[in-house]
Amino acid sequence: MIDNFKKKIEEKKKKYGSIVSGDKWRNSYHIMPEIGWINDPNGLCKFGDNYHIFYQYSPLDVNGGLKFWGHITTKDFVHYKQEPIFLYPDKSFDKTGVYSGSAFVKDKEMFLFYTGNVKYEGNYDYILKGREHNTIFVEYDGQNVSDKTVLFTNDDYPEDVTLHVRDPKVFEYKDQYYMVLGARSKENKGLLLVYQSSNLKEWSYFRRIEGNALGYMWECPDMIFQDGKFITIFSPQGLQKEKYQFQNQYQSGYIVKDEKAFFDENETFSLEEFIELDKGFDFYAPQTFQDDKKRTILIAWVGMPDENNHKNPTVEKYWQHQLSLPRQIELKDGRLYQQPIEELKQLRTSQMELTHITLTEDKQQWNIIEQYAFELQLELLSDFFVIEFRDVTLQYKDNVFTLKMGKCGYGRKERRVKIEKLSHLQIFSDQSSLEIFLNDGQECMTTRIYNDTMISTLQMAGSGSCSLKKYNLQAIQYDEK
Ligand code: FRU
Repeated sequence: MIDNFKKKIEEKKKKYGSIVSGDKWRNSYHIMPEIGWINDPNGLCKFGDNYHIFYQYSPLDVNGGLKFWGHITTKDFVHYKQEPIFLYPDKSFDKTGVYSGSAFVKDKEMFLFYTGNVKYEGNYDYILKGREHNTIFVEYDGQNVSDKTVLFTNDDYPEDVTLHVRDPKVFEYKDQYYMVLGARSKENKGLLLVYQSSNLKEWSYFRRIEGNALGYMWECPDMIFQDGKFITIFSPQGLQKEKYQFQNQYQSGYIVKDEKAFFDENETFSLEEFIELDKGFDFYAPQTFQDDKKRTILIAWVGMPDENNHKNPTVEKYWQHQLSLPRQIELKDGRLYQQPIEELKQLRTSQMELTHITLTEDKQQWNIIEQYAFELQLELLSDFFVIEFRDVTLQYKDNVFTLKMGKCGYGRKERRVKIEKLSHLQIFSDQSSLEIFLNDGQECMTTRIYNDTMISTLQMAGSGSCSLKKYNLQAIQYDEK
């Protein structure tokens, strides 16, 4: 069966490989699918000398469809190795998709957990009938992947939960292992199921966490313990749109509780406690891991289907979506701050600087953009500020930061975030990607961007003053397979 998949994938690569690699919107320093579709990051971990990044991958269908686990490794986040596909949907219990999951490293072994998706053919709602979500386990020693073991089927989950129970994230806390799964109840409410184990192989039910006005399904949960706090990251579906938040179809965010809440069965999550992680057009299903430097690193899927008429123009070139930059996250004053990891400084090539610019209401213009792969840092002393580049306008006015896309948004127009004071702006621009960090990652906005032409000007207007640093960034390197 795997050989058959391999053959089909090779045929697709032959047909589309050069169209994909020749596309002007291929990024320089973001992880993208070799061909086809990418979504959630999975199984993030540091294993020996290597960081392992697995991901939801559909090489056979540019619009998603059958999911495999793609696999990429890096020692330094500059040099990468594209590894062979790691998991295939080759068993009866995962035959319509090797869905999202996580990795846990222990004693030189990697323990991986994922959801085996099975969709029956026929006329079903696929919520109460017509599908399976199995929780599956494999071991990896760096060379060989073990057989797949089914840990749970839908019969093992609580009675009041639908067939949607997925995305196991495994972590260690106080000498025990825990697995958290995202779920949808029969009353159409999102919830989490937590299981416990002492050996990573036998699991027993530990608790559930329910929510209040927090949507009908929670995907891709993750739990972090830091400084006496218990932080849950998850991706709820079904939140009401608001003017300054939840503007996308689906959201990703977190809730911070005191550590003891993890053991309190009466604790629930409420909408008021939920903080959105990124307010751009494309950010979903983030996953974190802790590395040997004790950093908590987050990577997300940079992609999000829109309800409106936006169509991703790379579909015609037989590829879609990317992953975010790895971001170090830290809890400060009850919020998670996100910062691109420091290794990314190694990508910097030339540097230019503009200091002590007095901003005026009339736009001033600089011809400084030579390539779209760059990093911009702005120090601001201003309560009104506008910057324009690449057919995008970023505006800060009346404590609202707005991202406005011109034609480069391909139908997407505007996203907003409320922020009391803006003193620092950091922008990572790539061929078809923007990641914007406000006040050292207090707020973030991530979006895809599709410029048809090269625009070399940068314009600024406002009141007060600012200084700017720009670094051109070189591409990440791929080692031979
Ligand atoms: C989130 C998600 C997960 C699921 C995976 C399938 O984007 O829907 O819940 O496991 O994608 O690709």
